[in-house]
Amino acid sequence: MTTLKAVRGTRDLLPPETALWNRIEATACAVFTRYNFGEIRTPVFEDTALFARGVGEETDIVSKEMYTWEDRARAQSEKPQSLTLRPENTAGVVRAYIEHKLGETGQLQKSYYIGPQFRRERPQKGRYRQFSQIGAEVIGPPSAGSESPLRDAEVLEMLATLLDELGITGWTLEINSVGSSADRARYNEVLREALIPIAPKMCVDCQRRAVTNPLRVLDCKVPEDQPIIDTLPKIVDSLDYASKTHFAAVLAALDAAGVPYTRNHRLVRGLDYYTRTTFEFTHGGLGAQNSLLGGGRYDGLSEAIGGPKAPGIGFAMGEDRLVLTLQALNQGSAQPRVDAFVAPLGDAKDEAALMRINAAALALARELRRAGLSIELGDGSFRLKKSFETADKVARRIVILGEDELQSGILTVKDFSSGTQTKVPRAELATHLSQPAAK
Ligand code: HAM
Repeated sequence: MTTLKAVRGTRDLLPPETALWNRIEATACAVFTRYNFGEIRTPVFEDTALFARGVGEETDIVSKEMYTWEDRARAQSEKPQSLTLRPENTAGVVRAYIEHKLGETGQLQKSYYIGPQFRRERPQKGRYRQFSQIGAEVIGPPSAGSESPLRDAEVLEMLATLLDELGITGWTLEINSVGSSADRARYNEVLREALIPIAPKMCVDCQRRAVTNPLRVLDCKVPEDQPIIDTLPKIVDSLDYASKTHFAAVLAALDAAGVPYTRNHRLVRGLDYYTRTTFEFTHGGLGAQNSLLGGGRYDGLSEAIGGPKAPGIGFAMGEDRLVLTLQALNQGSAQPRVDAFVAPLGDAKDEAALMRINAAALALARELRRAGLSIELGDGSFRLKKSFETADKVARRIVILGEDELQSGILTVKDFSSGTQTKVPRAELATHLSQPAAK
């Protein structure tokens, strides 16, 4: 029989790496809470139309990468429906904002999420078909201040703080403004004109984009096209006064907060909903997939999916890439040792005695775990040598429990870091094991 494996582009996350995932998530939640964000959990699949309208039909995500299927009707009352595994979470959050009429509170809605996303991309290091994002969104009616450049700067300052607290050093914040949708339309026309004489010298994708969506030419990664793209007009020259002032205010607030950034005129991002501020945090340690996180403002997204005017800004971090970066920086966690290994010592040939000592060891482990200690439990059939070898790999100390110890209530404890062996009365065992190891 052929062995079944995890599907291409998906992975199992195993300990001790999962400890690092948990640490990242706990740090992110703690930082988001300090900035007054609450958690939102939206479904993993949605109506396909949400992404088509929200993210944009022309984008790579919608045109090539979505896991979409026709969901058959199960009853006469149901209609077949096209559903899609979410490729990103912003559209779902905005759908929920509209569906639950959160705009009617008149307040800014500040929510964060952690969860799997799905894109049928070509898998490589840092790029998977199921990956996890940690993201946050600030949305609200304009009267709540949702359009203010201060919101953009605050989100970016929060990200700088979060990366610092995670221990990710050496990141770069790249920032740009893609203007309002009117500015974008104007820039698209400027680009279209500029591309007419040069597109034939570019890759086939660019030749197509030059006609269908010239802005996407700026995403091209083909090395030969880069010098040509560098000569194209810059979006900043197509921004109207309001967009320019907004962007200047974001940068001024970042300067005041001491958050360093680099301007990148080509950062238009691969999703169609962006307006004004766009940004990415990159890290050199990641190789080709160097974007740790990306985000920006999406002032027209709510209206594009049938909601009220609700400008917003947000980001999503690739959690898989945070893990890779921390591992490259040597901040990955090693398997932590438990406080003690309880080693029952029995006679493998005497079944009744073995059962008795194993049961007594379980009772002792229960007592210690209930006292808050982390305990690994051995087996009475192990020889003493095997118990010591196993314990030395996973625990800071070993507690021997044989017939003698059971009778006397005095246990033998060996501390692996100091090599000392001590006799400890059972009543004092939990306290003894919770002390730092002797040097
Ligand atoms: P995005 O740039 O498509 O933006 O994805 C954000 C981050 O998710 C990327 O920077 C990367 O770290 C990670 N990512 C994307 N695709 C993959 C993949 N195939 N494998 C591993 N990691 C990946 C968005 O998704 C927007 N929703 C962000 C946003 C929120 N904009 C405003 N609010």
